[in-house]
Amino acid sequence: MRHLLTLKEFSGKEIEGMIDKAIEIKKNREKYSQALKDKTLAMIFQKTSTRTRVSFEVGMTQLGGHAIYLDWRTTQFIMADIRDETKTIARYVDIIMARLLKHAELEKMASASTVPVINGLCERYHPCQSLGDLMTIKEHKGKLKGLKVVYFGIGNNVSNTLALGCVRTGAHFTLCTPEADPLSMDDGLLNELKSSGLYVEEKNPKKAVEGADVVYTDTWVNMEVFLDPKFEEEKKRRMRTFMPYQINKKLLEGSNALIMHDMPIHRGYEMDDWAVDSPNSIIFDQAENRLHIQKAVMLHLLGKFKL
Ligand code: CP
Repeated sequence: MRHLLTLKEFSGKEIEGMIDKAIEIKKNREKYSQALKDKTLAMIFQKTSTRTRVSFEVGMTQLGGHAIYLDWRTTQFIMADIRDETKTIARYVDIIMARLLKHAELEKMASASTVPVINGLCERYHPCQSLGDLMTIKEHKGKLKGLKVVYFGIGNNVSNTLALGCVRTGAHFTLCTPEADPLSMDDGLLNELKSSGLYVEEKNPKKAVEGADVVYTDTWVNMEVFLDPKFEEEKKRRMRTFMPYQINKKLLEGSNALIMHDMPIHRGYEMDDWAVDSPNSIIFDQAENRLHIQKAVMLHLLGKFKL
């Protein structure tokens, strides 16, 4: 049994295999309409979500299975040991997807589970997002190897897994950020990135964008504190710190790079309106592809196809 907790679990060949499967599923929806008949997915959310929740639930429906949404705060997860609650849920369902605040809790969940566990985002990794992102890039560019992907803004869970997915599939990854979210640090992952020969850190946005095939950004403030008054001062500091790293018309003058954002977007902050609505923006293809890649992930983890 395998889990998808970080993306480190999958080789570059496996990552491309899942992407190719997702592209095939996208073109042949009917062929897979009974592929997970009688299977049930439990979706456990400790944080808010639009895309992850809806794409997993719709994905399971379209595969002939069923998905159950569980809000952390309205279950006994809120007061009990995560291992006991997980062991119980695993007696009912075939696969679990969880969006938890702490990766350490997700690891406890996976260690107790007798069914595959998928990370729907934690403070360090967002593997389903990165797989969908790479699928979207491959659809538009026809390949991953040799491309240059540049990430602007704050180093975080999204940049961690996107960078890993890029270097494992042979794409160049440039990180253009003044600082990283301290919660997202993973020294082991950084070592792998640095030893790949495909990973570059460049603090000057104009230099970073040179030769880019894809530019990418994410919110500067995590969703769980975005509306928290206690985070207001830090939020203001981040707005000042990261504004020079905004993806906008001026930055992309003379560039034909595809524009990506994992959403939700804070227009006027990490990206301007021009970039969001540009003909080069593939943001909504990217959001749609969460649906297709998650089908491929679930089918693979449930042994329905081999890589
Ligand atoms: N990108 C992403 O994971 O979207 P949600 O937070 O809406 O699920």
